Amino acid sequence: MENEIIAMPRIGDKAPEFEAITTQGNINFPGDYSGKWIILFSHPADFTPVCTSEFMTFASMQNEFIALNAQLVGLSIDGLYSHIAWLRTIKEKIVFKGMKNVDVTFPLIEDITMDIARKYGMIQPGESNTKAVRAVFFIDPAGTIRAIIYYPLSLGRNFDELKRVIIALQTADAYGVSTPANWNPGDDVIVSTASSCGAAKDRMENKDENVTCYDWFFCTKKLSVEQVKNAPVKK
Ligand code: BEZ
Repeated sequence: MENEIIAMPRIGDKAPEFEAITTQGNINFPGDYSGKWIILFSHPADFTPVCTSEFMTFASMQNEFIALNAQLVGLSIDGLYSHIAWLRTIKEKIVFKGMKNVDVTFPLIEDITMDIARKYGMIQPGESNTKAVRAVFFIDPAGTIRAIIYYPLSLGRNFDELKRVIIALQTADAYGVSTPANWNPGDDVIVSTASSCGAAKDRMENKDENVTCYDWFFCTKKLSVEQVKNAPVKK
């Protein structure tokens, strides 16, 4: 329906459930991935250049995401046979930026009815009525949406940034901290703001060499790459 208003999922919402046909068999989402982080992402169309560059990049980084306990799940409003043919072409023919023979082994959902894309707000008519935008949903092991990024059709995603988002979310959960602008593992993290006058005074008089206070409301502490890598898993 043209004027149908569909509420888009938001950060903090449970990921909408669906069953789907994928290049790796049928899935129940997000239930099949319980206990894992999920990156659910849409692309506009198979056999298009930006999407091809993205799939090759994402597939090449798949082991890095597996090491983070994160499952990749792709979606476009193409059919299964188009997906299969495109992924075969990528593997057999495309060489891009040193990547070749790239096997896409994460599931790619067929969504010719657009039901799932609509459920997740991936069809944005101002951009296209017939193609999903480049959406990325970061879903935690309990099935809650923790971050969402949207890109237009013309803009290929930065997959190092998607990896950084997963690591930052996991670090925030494990250590109860926030991450400042442009944070990367090994950089200082932000500790919670003092919530009383006494705590604010203590912060400013703090002599802990691991803690730096720029003012009472803005304090950081050291967190090593090793601590980030070995972050305790929050259930
Ligand atoms: C692409 O992936 O190259 C693309 C897809 C849809 C519109 C524009 C570009």
